[in-house]
This record gives sequence, structure tokens and C-alpha cells, in this order.
Amino acid sequence: MKVITVSASKTYDVKIEAGILARAGEEIRRVARGNTAVVVTDSTVGPLYAGQLELSLSAAGFRVRTFVFPAGEQSKNPETYLSLLGFLAKNQVSRSDLLVALGGGVTGDLTGFAAATWLRGTDFVQIPTSLLAMVDSSVGGKTAIDLPEGKNLVGAFYQPSLVLCDPLLLDTLSPACFLDGCGEIVKYGVLGDRALLRRLQKEHTAFDQEEVIARCVEMKRDIVNADEFEGGLRQLLNLGHTLGHAVELRSNYSLPHGCAVSIGLAIMTRAAVKNGLCAQEDGTEILDTLTALGLPAETAFSADELLPLTVMDKKRQGDSITCVVPRGIGRCDRMRFSLPDFEKFIKAEG
Ligand code: GLY
Repeated sequence: MKVITVSASKTYDVKIEAGILARAGEEIRRVARGNTAVVVTDSTVGPLYAGQLELSLSAAGFRVRTFVFPAGEQSKNPETYLSLLGFLAKNQVSRSDLLVALGGGVTGDLTGFAAATWLRGTDFVQIPTSLLAMVDSSVGGKTAIDLPEGKNLVGAFYQPSLVLCDPLLLDTLSPACFLDGCGEIVKYGVLGDRALLRRLQKEHTAFDQEEVIARCVEMKRDIVNADEFEGGLRQLLNLGHTLGHAVELRSNYSLPHGCAVSIGLAIMTRAAVKNGLCAQEDGTEILDTLTALGLPAETAFSADELLPLTVMDKKRQGDSITCVVPRGIGRCDRMRFSLPDFEKFIKAEG
């Protein structure tokens, strides 16, 4: 087992081990203050893994209740959030009880936001079941729901009490969903680990999952420990996300998050090279890694369609926007653009 400890406003472990789901109850018991565990899961993951988790939690002495919602980003909305709160009320969940997110990024974000706000704060545990959630979204305490106007517009920084990553759960992911998680792994490689990028170029998706998940979580841990509330350094984790979120929204979420980040990263890389901000060789290596994996690097949506959608981006301040620009592998900078300059910067890539 690999254990990575995050020391943010809350200190907690990320435990990575094949088969850990079967022992989740005893692991969660160690961090729990109360006796009720509410499992939150979706209609795809629930039938696969909720039963095993419920058994393990019951064996560890928990009263278990399970809330299931329809799978998909479209469910990460105020209606599902309110229906989850109604479920917590109906089951008299107290502040010392806990929520357990069993699923991908949507489940983790929704559950975390419910935990942050229910009774002004209830503990929660993340059990990510997608590669994307294991390498990124389950760690660091970003929780949110979407509005029709944009992704993650309502949320809170709220850290989990424990994260349990079981790579065996990846066996039931579709190849497309597994590949989607690779979009975030490439992001970590570009941010600071050329060897990780080289590994992806060579091994494609056949990498050692425990090792690669742990490497991404270590990098995220270092950033979150230094800047939990995204005052500066943590903004680097938004590499590829400004345009990625726009592509995601424009596609009405038919394009999954990691693929959208891949497109956002590719656009920013080409723009950075064209604008003389990124060395050509590094730009080519980033784009080649995306292509080698089979991740998308282009979009049919035009810059004119995407740019207005970045206006709701959380990285915007008044008439300017702060974006992460890849200057090279292991060298990404936050750069502030006026909105017209950002338009010129992006359009240079085409
Ligand atoms: N997914 C980016 C972050 O957690 O900051």
C-alpha cells in the first residue's frame, strides 16, 4: 500500500492499494466520529461496487444508507444536491456522521459539496472509482456543483477525512473512460515530470497504475499543502482547464472532462509556441504525448465559440483572465491577459 498524507486545513491520508475497497469499513472506522455512513453513488457505479462497500461498512459497525443518482455530469446540479440533502434530513444524519463518495469526479464533487454544507460541515470520505478521480479530483478538497451557466460555479474548499484508491476498480472502466483520466496525468507530467510523460509515450495506457496514481497524488499533495485555497501556486493545476471547461460546456458535457482538458492543453501549447512563449521541442513533445495516447488535441468548436464561454471562468478577474501557459515541460506559468489579448493569444494558434 502507498500512503500519501495531505497536510492542508485538515490532515488526511490517501491510501492506494489494490483490493482496499474490501477493507474500506475498517479504514473508515479509524477516521469516523459517528455511526452512520451515507454512501453516495451513481447508477453506473452503484450496481458494481456499492454492495461490497455496504457490507464492509456494516461489518465495521456502521448504520449504512445509500443514495443513488443518475450517472453523468448532468446530475451534478442543484436538483441532485437538494435531493441528497433531503435524503440526509430524512435519515437524520448528524454532524458527527459521515458521507462516503463512491464514484468518479461527479460523485466526489457533489458529495463533498453536500458534506461541506450539511449542518455547516459533515465529514466525508472519497473512494474514487475512475482514473481521473484517483489521480486528481478526489484529492485536495475542491467540491462543487454546476449551474447551466458553467461548471463548478457553486462550491467550497472542503477536505475529505480519507481517500481510498483501489486500482482494481479501474478494471470495469471502459477504455474511453480510462483514457479520459490520462488527460489529467499528462497535465501532471507537463507541470513537473518529464519522466512521467516519457513513460506515457512508451507504455501508453499499460502503465503501473499504483505507481502513476501515487506520483500524481504526490505532486498534487505538494501543491495543495502549499496553497490549499488557490491563492497562487494551485492555479497551476488549472493547466488546460480554462479552454477545457469551455469545450466541455459547449459540447453540453458530451465530451468528458479529461478529453476536454487534453484539448485545452493542446490549444494552449500551440498558442504558447506560436507566441514564442514555449520552446518548439517541448511543445511538440506535449502534443505528441497526447496523440500517442489517443487523446484529442483538436476541437471542431471555433475560438469565437469558445472564448465567450471563458467569461464565466473562475480564473477571470474583471476584464482580465489568468491562464496557465506551458512555457516548457516542467515550466508552466500563470499569466494574466486582458480579454482582447487572450483572444489574440488563442487565435495565433489556428
Ligand atoms: N483539479 C484542480 C485542483 O484540484 O486544484
